[in-house]
Amino acid sequence: MALRNVRVVEDPILRKKAKIVNKIDDKIKDLLEDMKDTMYKTQGVGLAANQIGILKRLVTIDVNDEHGLLKLINPEILEIKGEQVGPEGCLSIPETQGFVKRPEYVKFKYTDIDGNEQIIEATELLAVCICHEIDHLNGILFTDRALVGEEAEKYERLYNTENRA
Ligand code: NI
Repeated sequence: MALRNVRVVEDPILRKKAKIVNKIDDKIKDLLEDMKDTMYKTQGVGLAANQIGILKRLVTIDVNDEHGLLKLINPEILEIKGEQVGPEGCLSIPETQGFVKRPEYVKFKYTDIDGNEQIIEATELLAVCICHEIDHLNGILFTDRALVGEEAEKYERLYNTENRA
């Protein structure tokens, strides 16, 4: 197990675009293992390679659903539908939350560690997470998309009400 340091805001690498992975060798597999370990250790549900300082299109996700741990190479969105708004945070932006509008349904493809192309149709948290992580690969942070002003306040009120016991 190897843990990597998670880069935090103001680190310029978070604003860079990650490059396509052309060859899945042991180095890529080790990197994905390290990303998985780092994600679990920091209690994240997703991690993009930029966040550990590597500009390759690699993502790990585990939103505790039927897919379990996902190791994604070159993930790409194929189709989106609908809309959902929910609170988001990011390992690279400590102690910050914001409400972000994301698609309700996301169909995406990726290459797995055996070199096979896979397609997943995601909803709920997985749909949010894949968008958040692909944004990272493109140098975009959730705070760039977070709602502000009255719209943000509306969802804050809604969210607080929903969670009041
Ligand atoms: Ni993030």
